[in-house]
Amino acid sequence: MSSGWPSGATASREHSEPAGMGGGQTRPHAHAHGRFRGKVAVVFGAGSSGAGWGNGKAAATLYAREGAMVVAVDVQGAAAEETRDIIREEGGQCLALQADVTSSSAVADVVREAVDALGTIDILHNNVGITDMADVIEAGEDSWRRVIDTNLTSAFLTCKHVLPIMLERGQGAIVNVSSLASIQINSYPYISYYAAKAGLNHFTRAIAVQYAARGIRANAVLPGVIDTPLIRTQIAGRYESTEAMLSARHAASPMGRMGDAWDVARAALFLASDEAAYITGVCLPVDGGKSCVGR
Ligand SMILES: NC(=O)c1ccc[n+]([C@@H]2O[C@H](COP(=O)([O-])OP(=O)(O)OC[C@H]3O[C@@H](n4cnc5c(N)ncnc54)[C@H](O)[C@@H]3O)[C@@H](O)[C@H]2O)c1
Repeated sequence: MSSGWPSGATASREHSEPAGMGGGQTRPHAHAHGRFRGKVAVVFGAGSSGAGWGNGKAAATLYAREGAMVVAVDVQGAAAEETRDIIREEGGQCLALQADVTSSSAVADVVREAVDALGTIDILHNNVGITDMADVIEAGEDSWRRVIDTNLTSAFLTCKHVLPIMLERGQGAIVNVSSLASIQINSYPYISYYAAKAGLNHFTRAIAVQYAARGIRANAVLPGVIDTPLIRTQIAGRYESTEAMLSARHAASPMGRMGDAWDVARAALFLASDEAAYITGVCLPVDGGKSCVGR
């Protein structure tokens, strides 16, 4: 766990987005004028489960590039710190905290620490999600509970602890990272993942309606086939090889390619921003059109 703010550093090209995937944005000078200047964004699952860019790591980095003070939370402390270091190298502001989002007391501690350090929370970004490739007969009860806890109860806990802070000021934006699997059954058997993500969508809608008149917005993004480190650790086992997985997943999108973490992060940032001031309760596919076709 670490705290304190950087005095400002020069930008590094080392962590740029890939060319053609939004890499043309210039960031170092954007901090002072960004869409989220002066805002506090707490990102749960702000690391990535392997080398490269996961959805939460990219979102945390983009919030910072747009001027937000970011609290990067991850169960893997080193992953949160890696995101923090990237943000600081770019001249942004970030606090890294280690916490398990399935623990109510750990989430409460994060919220307290964020508010102590930064005064408030404007944006709550729930990125944590895991899969277990088992159908209803194969899935152990422990696995079922772990996936529901991690993917759904986590959002209940973060909202439970963050909403009172947002309500004090009558403003706040919540972004939940769901999945296209919440509305579409694909070739993977992961029954607990389908159920948890579908629950997360309706949880998002209920929060949106219940708090709409009090200045809070809640939306979800539904990534389709996205090339993040997670697919190499949690999905590749379904295929003969990682290469076979990559080509099958590219082919599954009408665009003929997977999306990447930046595609998901940019959609989340829009929903969290004032540009989306009249948008709440939306479950937005970020999927290259996959939701429009069968499989
Ligand atoms: N990659 C895809 O194709 C895809 C598709 C649809 C939806 N999604 C969703 O996007 C989100 C992020 O996926 P990703 O591919 O970037 O994954 P990722 O594994 O790279 O990132 C998730 C991060 O969450 C952290 N985390 C896991 N359990 C945690 C816990 N209990 N408490 C705190 N942190 C925890 C991990 O350590 C990791 O750093 C997930 O919700 C996932 O379901 C991904």
